[in-house]
Amino acid sequence: MTVQHAGAVAPSQSLAVRAFDSSRLEAFCATAEFDRPTLVLDVDRVEAQYHALKAGLGHADIHYAVKANPHPAILGRLVRLGAHFDAASRGEIEMCLAQGAQPHQISYGNTIKRVVDIAWAHQAGITLFAADAEEELEKIAEHAPGAQVYIRVIVEVSMADWPLTRKFGCDRDTALRLLDTAKALGLDPVGFSFHVGSQTRKAEMWRPTLDAVGQLWADAKAAGHELTMLNIGGGFPAFYGEEIQAPTDYAAGVMAMVTERFGHVPRVMAEPGRGLVAEAGMIVAEVVLTSKKSDRDLHRWVYLSIGRFSGLAETEGEAIRYQFVTPHDGEATGPCIVAGPSCDSADVLYEKRPMQLPLALKAGDRVLIRNTGAYTSTYSSVCFNGFPPLEAVAI
Ligand SMILES: Cc1ncc(COP(=O)(O)O)c(C=O)c1O
Repeated sequence: MTVQHAGAVAPSQSLAVRAFDSSRLEAFCATAEFDRPTLVLDVDRVEAQYHALKAGLGHADIHYAVKANPHPAILGRLVRLGAHFDAASRGEIEMCLAQGAQPHQISYGNTIKRVVDIAWAHQAGITLFAADAEEELEKIAEHAPGAQVYIRVIVEVSMADWPLTRKFGCDRDTALRLLDTAKALGLDPVGFSFHVGSQTRKAEMWRPTLDAVGQLWADAKAAGHELTMLNIGGGFPAFYGEEIQAPTDYAAGVMAMVTERFGHVPRVMAEPGRGLVAEAGMIVAEVVLTSKKSDRDLHRWVYLSIGRFSGLAETEGEAIRYQFVTPHDGEATGPCIVAGPSCDSADVLYEKRPMQLPLALKAGDRVLIRNTGAYTSTYSSVCFNGFPPLEAVAI
C-alpha cells in the first residue's frame, strides 16, 4: 500500500507534530488486521496537541469536550496532564471520574439537563453548570443549590464549517436578565460561555463573536455583576485538507483578542474537542462495492464499509470532507460518489462535490480515513441495519 502524507498542511510547529505522528498511525493502520471498520487512536498525538494548544492558551484551562471522543485512553492521558473536562451528560461525567478526574475539574456544559442528572452531578461534587434559560436556572437552583453557573450566549456570526448556532444560547438582553435571575435564585453567576462553531479554521474568524461577547461582558459589569469566568468554548480546528492555522498560533491569537476585549479574566476556560483529538485518529475501512449506474454514468459509485450511520455523521451536508488513503494513490483518478454500506438512501457521504478517487479502486481494497479522531465513534449508531458501532482502539 502506498501511504501518502497530508500535502498542503498548515505551517510552523503543527507540521512537525503532524508529520511525525500521522506516519506512526498510518504505518500501523496500513497493516493492522481488523474484521470491521475501526478507529485507531494515537494517544501520544493527543498529548502533543494538548501541549501545543496549552502553549497558546496561557492561563486558560483546557476543558476537553468529552463528546468528541471519550475513549478511556484519551481521558486517562488528559487527566494525567492536568486537563479539565466539559461534560455533556451524567455518562460523560462518570467516564471522567472513572479515569481519575476530580469533580472540580469537570463542568456540566450542556444547557439541556434532566433534573435527576443535575441532582446526581451535585451529589457527585460537580459545582459548575451551564444554562441559557430561566427554567434551567430554576432546575439547577433546586437540585444543585448554590452552584456556580455560566450563561451561554448565542453566536450570531459563525464562520465555522460545522456551525452550532440557533439551538444553544440566548441573546444579550436575556443573558443579562439571567444573571439577575441566577442571583435571585441563590446561584453564583460567574460569567458567560459561547461557541464560535466547530472547525473555525482561523483565529481571526473569532473576531465578530468576541466583539459581541466583549460588549456583553462590559454591559454586565456596568450593571453591577462581578464576573470572574469566561468560557470561550471549542472551535479549534483539525486538518481535513483545507489550510488551518497551527494550534499554538491559533490559540495565542484567540487569547490576544480575548485580552484586548476582556482585560485579565481570572478564570478562562477553553473547550477544544475536535482540535485536540481529530488528528490523533485514523479509521481503517474497506471498499465493499464499486459500480456505475449506467453506461452513460459520469461518476463511479464507491461504497465503503463505513458510512453516515457508522461513524461518518459529519459528512452531513458534506460539511467535513475527510481525506482517504488507498492502495492506488498516485494512479489515475476520476469523480466518485462515496457512500456507506447501509440500506438507507441518506447514507451517501459525498455526492454534491464528488471525490477524486483512483479508478482502480475495487471491492476489498483497504481505505484509511485521516484525522477522524473526533466525532466519529461517538456518532456511530448502535446497530443500524445490523452494523456494529465503530470500534475504537488506542495504540
Ligand atoms: C459546549 C461545547 N463545548 C465544546 C465543544 C467542542 O467543540 P469543538 O469540537 O469544535 O472544539 C462543543 C461541541 O459541540 C460544545 O457543545
